[in-house]
Amino acid sequence: MQVVERHADPEWNLMDYLRRNLSLTGTKYSCGTGDCGACTVMISKYNPDTKKIHHYSATACLTSICSLHGTAVTTVEGIGSIKTRIHPVQERLAKCHGTQCGFCSPGMAMSIYTLLRNHPIPSTEQLMEALGGNLCRCTGYRPILESGKTFCEEPTVCQLQGTGKCCMDQEENQYSLNKKEERMAEDPQKKTLYFHGEKVLWISPVSLNELLELRMKYPTAPLVMGNTTVGLNMKVKGEFHPLIISPIGLPALNFVDFKDDGVTIGAGCSLSEMKEILTHAVSEEPKEKTKTYRALLKHLRTLAGQQIRNMATLGGHVASKHDYSDINPVLAAGKAILNLISKDGERQILIEELFTTPSLKEELRPGELIFSVFVPHSRKWEFVFSYRQAQRMENAFAIVNAGMSVHFEEGTNIIQDLKLFFGSVGPTTVSASKTCKQLIGRQWNDEMLRDGIRMVLEEIFILPTTAGATVKYKKTLTTSFFFIFYLSVKKELHELEQRYPDIPETSISALEDFPIKIPEGREMFQCVDPHQSPQDPVGHPVMHQSGIKHATGEAVYYDDIPQVDKELHLAVVTSTRAHAKILSIDISEALKFPGVVDVITAKDVPGENNHEGEILYAEDEVICVGQIICSVAADTHAHARQAAEKVKITYEDVEPRIITIEEAIEHKSFMFEEKKIEKGNVDKAFKHVDEIIEDEVHVGGQEHFYMETQTTLVFPTGEDNEMVIFIGTQFPTHVQDFTAAALGVPRNKIMCHMKRTGGAFGGKVTKPALLGAIAAVAAHKTGHPIRFMLERCDDMLITGGRHPILAKFKVGFMKNGKIKAVDIQYFTNAGCTADESEMVLEFIVLKSENAYDIPNFRCRGRACKTNLPSNTAFRGFGFPQGTLVVENYITAVAIKCGLLPEKVRDMNMYKTPNTTAYKEPFNPEPLLKCWKQCLEKSSFQSRRTAIEEFNKKNDWKKRGIAIIPMKFTVGVPHTSESQAASLVHIYQDGSVLVTHGGCELGQGLHTKMIQIASRELKIPSSYIHLSETSTTTVPNASYTAGSMGTDINGRAVQNACQTLLKRLDPIIKKNPKGKWEDWVSQAFSESISLSATGYFRGYKTYMDWEKEVGHPYPYFVYGAGCSEVEIDCLTGAHKLFRTDIFMDAAFSINPAVDIGQIEGAFIQGMGLYTTEELKYSPEGVLYTRGPDDYKIPTVTEIPEKFYVTLVHSRNPIAIYSSKGLGEAGMFMGSSVFFAIMDAVGAARRKRGLMEPFTMNSPATPELIRMSCVDQFTEQIHRDDPSTFKSWSIHVS
Ligand SMILES: Cc1cc2nc3c(=O)[nH]c(=O)nc-3n(C[C@H](O)[C@H](O)[C@H](O)COP(=O)(O)OP(=O)(O)OC[C@H]3O[C@@H](n4cnc5c(N)ncnc54)[C@H](O)[C@@H]3O)c2cc1C
Ligand code: FES
Ligand code: FES
Repeated sequence: MQVVERHADPEWNLMDYLRRNLSLTGTKYSCGTGDCGACTVMISKYNPDTKKIHHYSATACLTSICSLHGTAVTTVEGIGSIKTRIHPVQERLAKCHGTQCGFCSPGMAMSIYTLLRNHPIPSTEQLMEALGGNLCRCTGYRPILESGKTFCEEPTVCQLQGTGKCCMDQEENQYSLNKKEERMAEDPQKKTLYFHGEKVLWISPVSLNELLELRMKYPTAPLVMGNTTVGLNMKVKGEFHPLIISPIGLPALNFVDFKDDGVTIGAGCSLSEMKEILTHAVSEEPKEKTKTYRALLKHLRTLAGQQIRNMATLGGHVASKHDYSDINPVLAAGKAILNLISKDGERQILIEELFTTPSLKEELRPGELIFSVFVPHSRKWEFVFSYRQAQRMENAFAIVNAGMSVHFEEGTNIIQDLKLFFGSVGPTTVSASKTCKQLIGRQWNDEMLRDGIRMVLEEIFILPTTAGATVKYKKTLTTSFFFIFYLSVKKELHELEQRYPDIPETSISALEDFPIKIPEGREMFQCVDPHQSPQDPVGHPVMHQSGIKHATGEAVYYDDIPQVDKELHLAVVTSTRAHAKILSIDISEALKFPGVVDVITAKDVPGENNHEGEILYAEDEVICVGQIICSVAADTHAHARQAAEKVKITYEDVEPRIITIEEAIEHKSFMFEEKKIEKGNVDKAFKHVDEIIEDEVHVGGQEHFYMETQTTLVFPTGEDNEMVIFIGTQFPTHVQDFTAAALGVPRNKIMCHMKRTGGAFGGKVTKPALLGAIAAVAAHKTGHPIRFMLERCDDMLITGGRHPILAKFKVGFMKNGKIKAVDIQYFTNAGCTADESEMVLEFIVLKSENAYDIPNFRCRGRACKTNLPSNTAFRGFGFPQGTLVVENYITAVAIKCGLLPEKVRDMNMYKTPNTTAYKEPFNPEPLLKCWKQCLEKSSFQSRRTAIEEFNKKNDWKKRGIAIIPMKFTVGVPHTSESQAASLVHIYQDGSVLVTHGGCELGQGLHTKMIQIASRELKIPSSYIHLSETSTTTVPNASYTAGSMGTDINGRAVQNACQTLLKRLDPIIKKNPKGKWEDWVSQAFSESISLSATGYFRGYKTYMDWEKEVGHPYPYFVYGAGCSEVEIDCLTGAHKLFRTDIFMDAAFSINPAVDIGQIEGAFIQGMGLYTTEELKYSPEGVLYTRGPDDYKIPTVTEIPEKFYVTLVHSRNPIAIYSSKGLGEAGMFMGSSVFFAIMDAVGAARRKRGLMEPFTMNSPATPELIRMSCVDQFTEQIHRDDPSTFKSWSIHVS
């Protein structure tokens, strides 16, 4: 559609405009900072040079609508829809099972679609690059890539047609659907554009002259180009600019000029265009001339995601002078020149000059701007290299980066010129110019290296209080990069002149970066019984019931529901102190703010403000940073948020302020009783062992990072105190309970609806109840419908996450590796309220033996009460943290005994039917099956040998492999919490509506319920519909968690269907040849009820903590996972080569869904154990509040080879002999952690460090690097901790 907007406001971004003004809600809002790709759209723009329309992906959340004049925007709605015709990209995404919760899916579809518009048959590398800026928290990316691969040159997905094409290929030229609309882009801007907004004026000049006039007239107005710095600062830092000049797309700034001595690139070229230009230059020019280009290209591939690179411009990047800039250090090292222009004329400066003066403002004179950048060719005796290390390979700011160059006197190894520039070590790019000067005239040899490292360390001063990674890691990286640079240059010198010595063979791998390769996957699962009816979908890999809707953006999430009359938006004011008395709350300014209707505080809660220990609004005291104090209801989301900032709160700090576990232990600040189980005689056993190791392990917390933040819509019906709530939750009953309590009404007045949510992972079990109740109180007070969607930063701050833990262990063992005794004590950081912390603690204690038969075992657990936001349920409920400690001590035992860890694991594993530490009998047969198959099918032994060989030959890269067994339990220790109900209606036309108490979180629960109903009623799935979960249809439903969603709700659905079929049975018998519709219609005419409830009483489970015995969980799930990695000992980077998972699935109701759960959980687990690191200030303020600084895995982190096998076993206790697999895969991610530890062990052994060591989680690049102790780490001077306050602390 063509949009004519006569009142475009420069403050509007495309995202809000699409969603609110045009009701195009397929474009999803997840972070608002350009980091997640959920809002990806395609922008088409006319290029007057090529006279072609240029298509590129962009993030709508950072695109100002004023920048879109004369362009065409294609959203997910524009490429295909169920109502018209779905696009092959959407179809394949769904059919390859690339959608789970579906919240990332429109963005994924748009990234692939844009790729195909530019490259109809892309390469797999282009596909990887296109998806690097799109996050998915559910799938683990493999199926998304598979769907994209079907379009690639060499589809690896299927060859069914035998033509080298995919069976899903349809007609030719299927990718462009919108030709007509895109022609809008052919109308270039002819006159100056002025957009007058409420507060901001936007001017888009039409010529360079006009731009220069404007620049002179308004020297402080920003030049908005890609808007990726300005837009972000406006959103995150609240920057305000009353006037914006935007020359984006101005032809004068968009040009390239190849000359004999280098290339000049217009400041308006995007970083993607710059990449294309340099790639072209590299292909055309001799290698010798393109060293700087290649160094730049390296960073241009991994800087941000592709969407941002498409938007961000070279001029904007250089001018922003970000400390973390990946490009500026390389441009500076490559002696690039800035061409500056103003009304007064042109002048040139070396880019490096920007970093030798305090600020660009002093460099750029008033009225001046960057016109272009000249990047010269490199010369024969000149070498240019770039380095960067980030928390994650792609789309993450560098922890340290560098651009380095050296120029030798012709034909010698004598330094004539040296440039060393570093990023992320100071307020902007930093030059080690003193070092460089001092090294001029020196030969390129080991002595120079030694002195150079010393000088760099002296010159690059990093404040001990610097944000981000620790100072010692940053310092280590600067010297490690210098060392790699030294080796690289030495090698090149040798290639140039053989008389210069080469580097040792064992150092060569230090020079190689990990490649980004397209992953390959293989999934193995059962075939269904050949006698099974073709209509019966049970056991088949059926696509997610909402898959297509996910991919077309037509699946409705609650914030997609159009605005209703008188609706208000809610924003919250949260505490900035961890523990303090509230002295005053001044809401007067907020009330005066435009659009504000009311401010709601604890005093406005008509019922219980504190329900079961969980507080809606803080009243007199705050107990964590992020606690909600009041909320503002206003006409728009922006007004509500801006007004919330006007609320003034005064505090008086209260002691003690407890943030860490250590502090809690010191203050004896615990919740609940200690939980303990014990078997054998631990103390006695320690007296008879050969060796004892005592140590501790810290496991950090984890943010759920569901792609859809917590969202609710609340409607007061205006009658009988009724309140209708639409909310993304795993537990509607809980929301109903809290809302009823808060409003002081019985629960039958609260109708809670839950259709779907964009991921949950435990984070939407309890927290939505508080948020729903807060919204309901606001609706009650104002009488208006309330829309309450948490911004990503608030969601991360307020809602807590996985419990960080500290474990202190003592393990006693024999010299042969047999463990005789373990005494382990766990402490969890529960935060400020109880929430689910007791259950998490119980799970840790009960499950912590994992797969090991330790005859004398004592495990104790305490939950620490701290002044952090209350931590909550998270996939695996403590198991992933607890067992990481177990595998850590097993590894320590192996090191001490000089054995391989897999041997010690095998030796200590349960082998025969046995009982757990709490005396629960079980048979480990499936465990052994998984373990054996995993060892065999992964070719473990031969790979172990190959790894040893590799490690011998490589000093700075080490490989590691680990195989980890798993004994997991599903469900909960309380029978009443696993009861479930359903309600099934058959309508007169034969269609069936199923409802049950489980929530669809993306895990495919409803898909499986439809499969079950189809089997039970013996009708095709197409007859069955599942709309939503609601407290009005199924009351008192339990939470959807603990891997038991299908188990318990499936039984309830089965029960209702069987009741109905029993009622139909006599009719069917009378008319066996009849159709379903005939029988239904006959039943109606015979007044037979066509509606039935189904019920499942729950698994009989219990735990007696006094006697330390019980049957807390209905059954076990077993598995084994093997991963192989390579680490870079100098930087701390790692690459995951291969993962094999063997999971005991018994009989899978839907193998596609189950494999999706295993893969998704595995990647989430891998994130927990590697890149996901929450950072807190010593005052308890969470710093990591968005995807810019909290790094979940992206498409580049997943294993290059990813093989998952569902192992068949029997499980008579669960429906159709299936098993609940929602959580088990999470712990399999630890195989990556232990493979890293294996590799680190190899690095340490090389340095003669033979003693056992433990590794804390996550194994971040920092931890890996600093664990690979070497001359560089040893050289770092450690600042005296008593002389400064650290920027962040560990809370585990
Ligand atoms: C999600 C995300 C991830 C990112 N990741 C990385 C990363 O990994 N590595 C990295 O290095 N960077 C990263 N960045 C930063 C990014 O590279 C810069 O924001 C971007 O290059 C700025 O370009 P722009 O065109 O968007 O600038 P704008 O935001 O449009 O402008 C930025 C500033 O530059 C000034 N300006 C613009 N053009 C000119 C000109 N021609 N002359 C003078 N002044 C000018 C403007 O006045 C303004 O002050 C990331 C940014 C985002 C949003
Ligand atoms: S919402 Fe735009 S990138 Fe995340
Ligand atoms: S399916 Fe990708 S985030 Fe849920």
